[in-house]
Amino acid sequence: MIRTNENYSKLKASYLFSDIAKRVDEYQKNNPEANIIRLGIGDVTKALPKECIKGFHAGVDEMADDATFRGYGPEQGYDFLRQKIAQHDFQSRGANIHADEIFVSDGAKCDTGNFQELFANDIKIAIPDPVYPVYLDTNVMAGRTGTFENGRYQGLIYMDCLKENHFLPKLPDEPVDLIYLCFPNNPTGATATKEELALWVDYAKENRALILFDAAYEAYIRDDELPRTIYEIKGARQVAVEFRSYSKTAGFTGTRCGYTVVPKECMIYDANGDAVFLHSMWTRRHTTKFNGVSYPVQKAAEAIYSDQGKVQVKALVDYYLKNADIVRQTVTELGFDYVGGKNSPYIWVDGKGRDSWEFFDLLLKKASVVCTPGAGFGKCGQNYIRISAFNSHENVQLAMKRLKETL
Ligand code: MLT
Repeated sequence: MIRTNENYSKLKASYLFSDIAKRVDEYQKNNPEANIIRLGIGDVTKALPKECIKGFHAGVDEMADDATFRGYGPEQGYDFLRQKIAQHDFQSRGANIHADEIFVSDGAKCDTGNFQELFANDIKIAIPDPVYPVYLDTNVMAGRTGTFENGRYQGLIYMDCLKENHFLPKLPDEPVDLIYLCFPNNPTGATATKEELALWVDYAKENRALILFDAAYEAYIRDDELPRTIYEIKGARQVAVEFRSYSKTAGFTGTRCGYTVVPKECMIYDANGDAVFLHSMWTRRHTTKFNGVSYPVQKAAEAIYSDQGKVQVKALVDYYLKNADIVRQTVTELGFDYVGGKNSPYIWVDGKGRDSWEFFDLLLKKASVVCTPGAGFGKCGQNYIRISAFNSHENVQLAMKRLKETL
């Protein structure tokens, strides 16, 4: 008899953003005249940068000719892209990362979700609250948690990110084995300084722990003092894996490309406590379960690093950051406390005691504006909503006008 993975029964019925999409579709069906503005899921709205389109076209043209056609590519990505990533995203910032430590993939959601399968099931995991739900749900699916009680899965160490601690997780009081960090943070938009990240790197070294560092939003950092990668921190090569995405950097949400960095020194430990190279394990996993990102998409990604590509990508990110300014200005005028929106496309708004799902419903039904209820990211988000800056200036301005009329 074929049987279920019982861990799935511990999960909430649907994934946060599918749940929201269902509610919004239902509302639209019942109110066909409503002009809904979506500031919920962080999905980009502007076209790919022109240089990326050129690269994409060039890749497609090569596929159309027997002489230049490509079949299976290297699972870890083509060297032309990996070299550029290492040089422009890391070495240019003084971070010692090499092309053969880069694993090109179809995005950070898949990689952050998949990476946990390299670890034992009885490890102790520290996870921020609020948190991007993929880290949590994939560990639930793998059986690393108990049941969901009072808004939390049993067996995990939750790190509360609250106003009192500037939305930064505190080092756990007990030793943990795996730590999830994300900066600039999704959902709060909070950022971490080099000194703050150094505390985590030191902690991981002392405890033989591993940090999974999600840097999907690093392109939004405009403050030069803030680290763009965890590898700007001394010692991070031994204890941190970093996830990157072109989704929010270059508008690739529908194009799909990102990468994961696994430094060669990074170690995990077997049942006897002997060190194992994580790079070899991830190579084994990646080459077995993944066949590489399509050639034209990698050509499009490569174009991000050309002189023109860099200018265009910066302009794209600036466009969304301008929206974030508009949102910040409005929530300030309305007297709400918030964090984020400065080096991040997300604004985490304190709903002044309102339940986050009620706040979500109010904005949907009275303003036809979609946000993300904070509770979807964890217990600490119960009284918050997340507003995303991903939409056109016109729509964001209109949405903010409606918020002013509604609240
Ligand atoms: C979000 O809205 O949190 C992100 O768009 C989700 C994702 O990147 O998968």
